[in-house]
Amino acid sequence: MTIAIIGAGIAGAACAQRLQQQGQHVVVFDKGRAVGGRMSSKRTSAGYLDLGAQYFTARTPAFSSQCQRWLAQQVIERWHGALGLIEQGMLGASPDATERYIGIPSMQKPVQQLLADISVQHAEVSAVHFEQGCWQLYAGADLLGQFQQLVLAVPQQQAARLLQQVIESQWQLKSLFAQIALLPCWAVNIELAESDSLPVQFDGIFVKQDAQISWLARQGSKTGRAGPQHWLVHFTPAWSAEHLELSADEVAQHALAALQRVFNTRVKAVATLSHRWRYAQQVADYPLLGALRLHDVKLGLCGDWLNGGRVENAWLSGKQLAEELAL
Ligand code: FAD
Ligand code: NAI
Repeated sequence: MTIAIIGAGIAGAACAQRLQQQGQHVVVFDKGRAVGGRMSSKRTSAGYLDLGAQYFTARTPAFSSQCQRWLAQQVIERWHGALGLIEQGMLGASPDATERYIGIPSMQKPVQQLLADISVQHAEVSAVHFEQGCWQLYAGADLLGQFQQLVLAVPQQQAARLLQQVIESQWQLKSLFAQIALLPCWAVNIELAESDSLPVQFDGIFVKQDAQISWLARQGSKTGRAGPQHWLVHFTPAWSAEHLELSADEVAQHALAALQRVFNTRVKAVATLSHRWRYAQQVADYPLLGALRLHDVKLGLCGDWLNGGRVENAWLSGKQLAEELAL
């Protein structure tokens, strides 16, 4: 049986690897130039920039074992960034004992490792049709192939768009798509002038109860990333949703102003890079299925949005779906 998987993020990759280990033939499609999805770091001449996932933690034995394998393969390492916290406008140290991991030299490295022996086609799937017990995948007018089983490992809203044909006849899909699962996040990397430095010792700063931003990080604290003058700013889901259609430059101005506000200092940006993640962070009360298999239409869905957000939960969702497909 040949299985098509749309989406080469960590969920699609975990699902693909497990299915291949179970003896299935798998083809993965992704619209990105590289694999990784929201775990992708942007390559620049100064080094990689982490605009999406910043690090990941492991709370389950299964994912902890996977992390141990990745550590042994040297595709990830422990991140020992000094952590700070801004709460009610006050900045302070906030160390803890949590182990946090990063891909090296970029965040997508573990995804690349999972997909190392798997066929990945870089194409945006624009339509899928279920006919006579088979799935046909299209990129525009081009037929990409015909498959006995389809796995969607893409964010909720993108899955809903592709599945219009079958949603009406499948009550599980209707209820999955009735409530929005993922909220947006604007991310901005700011390169400060050489003469400027922020008056802080921290590499990652949780920002709580702020109307604008939720996280700040120094890229240079991670192996392979751009130097110490590069700071990453994540905006909150609420601010990002409200300002979703601003231009990249306008959002960069807000990011610089926020940096100056929280550190109470003036700094100059020599370059900025903004990225709008339309589907980023899971809504807190979205119901968790882990993954979903619909036997009669030979369809499976996995991804972080079905399992609580986070890299670990996306990986677990992909693995769970592969195991359900083997039954
Ligand atoms: P994705 O990574 O989104 O993968 C889906 C893939 O599908 C993408 O590669 C996309 O290109 C592809 N695709 C979509 N539609 C199509 C189509 N029609 N045709 C072909 N391909 C398609 N998690 C943490 O654990 N720690 C963090 O610090 C953290 N920080 C984050 C910060 C931000 C700004 C964001 C956006 C996310 C963060 N996350 C973090 C969440 C984490 O990145 C995700 O939970 C995880 O990467 C999701 O993996 P996924 O495989 O489910 O989806
Ligand atoms: P984690 O266990 O490090 O953090 C979980 C949450 O606990 C944090 O968001 C923070 O509120 C709090 N926290 C943890 N350590 C802290 C410390 N030392 N001081 C103060 N607060 C602390 O990581 P986990 O659970 O693996 O989650 C991944 C991270 O990814 C989270 O921070 C989450 O907010 C972030 N994320 C961001 C997204 C976005 O769109 N910006 C999307 C998905 C996840």
